[in-house]
Amino acid sequence: MSGGQEIILEFELHAAIFDVAGEASSKIKRVLQQIGVRADVIRRIAISAYEGEMNTIIHSLGGTMRVVIFPERTEIILEDIGPGIADINLAMQEGYSTAPDYVREMGFGAGMGLPNMARCTDKFDIQSAVGVGTKIMMVVFH
Ligand SMILES: Nc1ncnc2c1ncn2[C@@H]1O[C@H](COP(=O)(O)OP(=O)(O)O)[C@@H](O)[C@H]1O
Ligand SMILES: [Mg+2]
Repeated sequence: MSGGQEIILEFELHAAIFDVAGEASSKIKRVLQQIGVRADVIRRIAISAYEGEMNTIIHSLGGTMRVVIFPERTEIILEDIGPGIADINLAMQEGYSTAPDYVREMGFGAGMGLPNMARCTDKFDIQSAVGVGTKIMMVVFH
């Protein structure tokens, strides 16, 4: 399934570094626009990437986001080291958030990130181990 046509983007995401937060997602959006992906599809990918990027920065100790853009789909793989998620079903519920007050004061912590990632993607898989970290894989078809 490669044929050398895919575009690979990789980002290091650092815990609690808010001044560059959102830059990875912006870069992904620009690349998708340049290759002419439909605007509504770009929007779903950008939301999913942004929410994943922010969760890594806010809730983990740091990680990576790897994005592979194929002609017919975009895959996003987020991997972090951190506290992990004890109850994934609970974390997936709209409005559930453990974000600390200083994060809420910056306007984050509405508890809508994971539900929006699941809603905006065609495939969504989350695996997490408490005290180890979290891995999320998402696919959006163009
Ligand atoms: N990468 C992660 N590592 C640890 N916990 C996470 C991670 N992503 C999400 N969570 C947990 O899931 C909850 C819900 O995430 P989300 O729906 O994005 O809401 P929010 O980020 O606004 O809190 C978070 O508050 C946090 O407890
Ligand atoms: Mg979030």
